[in-house]
Amino acid sequence: MPRGIQTRGNNIISESTQNANHFEELRLRLENRSAVCGVVGLGYVGLPLVGALHDASFKVLGFDVDPAKIGHLEAGTSYLSHIGEELPRHLAGSANFEPTTDFSRLAECDAILVCVPTPVDEHREPDLSYVTATGEEIGKALRPGQLIVLESTTYPGTTRDVFWPAILSSSGKAHSLGDDIFVAFSPEREDPGRTSHNTKTIPKLVGGLDDASTVLATALYSAAVEEVVAVKSAEIAESAKILENVFRAVNIAMVNELKVLFDKMGIDIWEVIEAAATKPFGFMPFLPGPGLGGHCIPVDPFYLAWKAREVGLPTRFIELAGEINHRMPQYVVERSVLALNRQAKSVQGSRVLIVGMAYKPNIDDTRETPSVEILKQLESLGASIEYHDPHVASVSNLREHPEILLHSVDLTAETLKAMDLVIIATDHDAIDWELIGRCASLIVDTRNAMARVDGPVSATVIKA
Ligand SMILES: NC(=O)c1ccc[n+]([C@@H]2O[C@H](COP(=O)([O-])OP(=O)(O)OC[C@H]3O[C@@H](n4cnc5c(N)ncnc54)[C@H](O)[C@@H]3O)[C@@H](O)[C@H]2O)c1
Repeated sequence: MPRGIQTRGNNIISESTQNANHFEELRLRLENRSAVCGVVGLGYVGLPLVGALHDASFKVLGFDVDPAKIGHLEAGTSYLSHIGEELPRHLAGSANFEPTTDFSRLAECDAILVCVPTPVDEHREPDLSYVTATGEEIGKALRPGQLIVLESTTYPGTTRDVFWPAILSSSGKAHSLGDDIFVAFSPEREDPGRTSHNTKTIPKLVGGLDDASTVLATALYSAAVEEVVAVKSAEIAESAKILENVFRAVNIAMVNELKVLFDKMGIDIWEVIEAAATKPFGFMPFLPGPGLGGHCIPVDPFYLAWKAREVGLPTRFIELAGEINHRMPQYVVERSVLALNRQAKSVQGSRVLIVGMAYKPNIDDTRETPSVEILKQLESLGASIEYHDPHVASVSNLREHPEILLHSVDLTAETLKAMDLVIIATDHDAIDWELIGRCASLIVDTRNAMARVDGPVSATVIKA
């Protein structure tokens, strides 16, 4: 064990050769890469993690409740557009990777990494049912000498007070944390679609429920990523991840609020941000937009807000940021109504094309996307809506609007000319902005995408 790290069971390890063996054997297996790793939840976070562990020469078992994903991985085909075909093809051809829905095979794993969803319910309260269900599956297969790491974003205390008890309750056997079972939290900081960083290059925070677990989790990730930062507890690691996401939510809300204010004053927020960003210190640019989407920024801060209520303290920044960001789709709709009105058109009966259904550029993720909210609101005002998104072929079964089913239309000059209004909601690189600028008559631009067009823009452009 490295100097400076004392295990909670320091004396227990010296008393019990058996338990010391679990720690030392597992550490050796992690260091020499003979350990078998299991990744539970093969979505946006879990699949790249499988790739990183596999590249580090571990044998990896991938677990998911969704048989369609397992089918894709067996066939070597992709189900996440930004990940592409290469990784699934590479994994399918490898003897060191097996996807499965058989959770009894968790017993084969020396290290289990959990990347299941952590959404909020309709009251914006944490829904930890995926975490507890996974904990119970792990408990059924639990055996001495396993390291279990929760990666899903959650409030401080979840690993110790919710996840570990769920594992223990279904195991039915006596296990001792830090002696024969090791449990840690390591937040996933993946940013799908970002090309400057990936799973291997983003520093990995690690905090165990005890020091022995921290040491083993550090050994695991050190084999697969460039930098591991061990912190003193799982709670520090859980809180750090939430801090990162609250930081983003609050700053995005601030520029969204200033966007509305500056517009009233006839000032362009985009030019203001560009100017402020020339300061070499003390300023970090955040960009306004049509509202928040995805599984992180609109959701995670409310995990902390919920936990804060338990200790009787308000989280006013989180609530205010949520309120401002949540109102943005409505602001875009109001700007759209105004834009049509200026052209003597009503929303009722207008043809509107929404460009971008994913919540951010260059990915296919439509979870909590503000585009759907904009679509719903305009539809309720009588507009006829179509959308174009090169990454999202259709939208259906969205959690909040399960009734919607639309298919992406081709972006052609004819389509654009037939529209009364084009709303730019997501600025994917693959979109032909010149074509939009040339052929649309009226554009509501929430991403300043038209500023990229070198050639003439004949459309009237309203920023929102
Ligand atoms: N998407 C991101 O950008 C991102 C970034 C950082 C952190 N996170 C966090 O990572 C976690 C996972 O997010 P994601 O975006 O990968 O979600 P996802 O929905 O893309 O993937 C989750 C996967 O878990 C599977 N699953 C659900 N219940 C399961 C169960 N009981 N057992 C096994 N598999 C199960 C689902 O079928 C799905 O394939 C969340 O806590 C999220 O907040 C996400």
